[in-house]
Amino acid sequence: MKNKILVVIAIFFFTAVKAQKFEGLALTPPMGWNSWNTFQTNISDNLVRGIADEMVSSGMKDAGYTYLVLDDGWMAMERDANGNLVPDPKKFPNGMKVLIDYVHSKGLKFGLYNCAGTKTCAGYPGTRGYEYQDARFYASLGIDYLKFDWCNTEGINAKEAYATMSKALKAAGRPIVFSLCEWGDNKPWLWAENVGELWRTTGDISAKFDGYLDHGTWKQLGVMPIADMQNGLRKYAGPGHWNDPDMLEVGNGMTVNEDRTHFSLWCMLAAPLIAGNDLRKMSKETKEILTNKEVIAIDQDNAGMEGYKYKSEDSLEIYIKPLSNDDWAVCFVNRSDKPMQVNFNWKDELIKDTLFKKTMDAKNHTYKIRNLWAKNNAGDTQKPLSAMLPSHDVIMLKLSK
Ligand code: GLA
Repeated sequence: MKNKILVVIAIFFFTAVKAQKFEGLALTPPMGWNSWNTFQTNISDNLVRGIADEMVSSGMKDAGYTYLVLDDGWMAMERDANGNLVPDPKKFPNGMKVLIDYVHSKGLKFGLYNCAGTKTCAGYPGTRGYEYQDARFYASLGIDYLKFDWCNTEGINAKEAYATMSKALKAAGRPIVFSLCEWGDNKPWLWAENVGELWRTTGDISAKFDGYLDHGTWKQLGVMPIADMQNGLRKYAGPGHWNDPDMLEVGNGMTVNEDRTHFSLWCMLAAPLIAGNDLRKMSKETKEILTNKEVIAIDQDNAGMEGYKYKSEDSLEIYIKPLSNDDWAVCFVNRSDKPMQVNFNWKDELIKDTLFKKTMDAKNHTYKIRNLWAKNNAGDTQKPLSAMLPSHDVIMLKLSK
């Protein structure tokens, strides 16, 4: 009898914990735009309207970018007398609600940022102790996405702090995608599946291909080291709960080849695609990268199976991603500073993805090949791949039977 009661209690708690977050959000990796990578705290009503307009007119919205997210710097330095957060009256003279309504009127969704600590990373009021009040405020504004950071959290337990905010959002009643941003410090992939829809896996990204930028007390990572750090995490991701290797730096200073590689890898990794460039001044090349629908379709594949580094030889890295319908994405990356000859005989490679129990067997099956950047049909796997790959560039292919 006692055992039965214990089982009932355990099931009750398991269901309660599992049902914590809103069901059915972010079934494919979230796509959108965030202000931080280009504007830091220099944000305004005017900027948001300009970006919203551009998301529509540039084709970004049509390509799937839905969430317009304001990062750190949107608040006044103090809460009001009732403890409510206050949008900065200089940056947002019309308040937030009118602006959010404007973004919604464009068919887009809107997101805001705050932090689990006492202050945000840029020193604005944090949420510690105000979780339920802030969640009600966000719901009343009609936001759709909350990025929740991890500065000024000394002595706070990450798992508990993020669970509290998740519960607060649920209690406020408006479905809001919850983006955990504690930089992978507390291994959120082990505990956040039912807390939020995405969790950062690393420190901050920079518009740098390899290596990192050293700021003394902290390091900003390049694209390739961040990709390396995803190793071993794919088993934790899936529809509704994604590893987040940070926002995109496409269009922020790397070469076109490097931007193409960055974007391809994020798609291979089923990463959230949150653009971080100034859409109002985007070059033709940047736009072509960000809106390549066939590449985006690899990221957004319904099965939500994160890809992985299959091989790495002499700076040639090969990423593989299983797709629905037993299709595959294959991405060849030249990490070196020189052009490289790529030879790959499909028939010699029996690729077994043991995690998702998928096998790519080009010896016994012929796969048709689509080149996703060249946007052409590129024969089939009967013939070995032989191509010159420029430095820091990719060949990204989709294989189907
Ligand atoms: C942290 C986050 C960044 C950004 C800034 C804002 O560094 O990781 O993505 O939100 O804070 O201050």
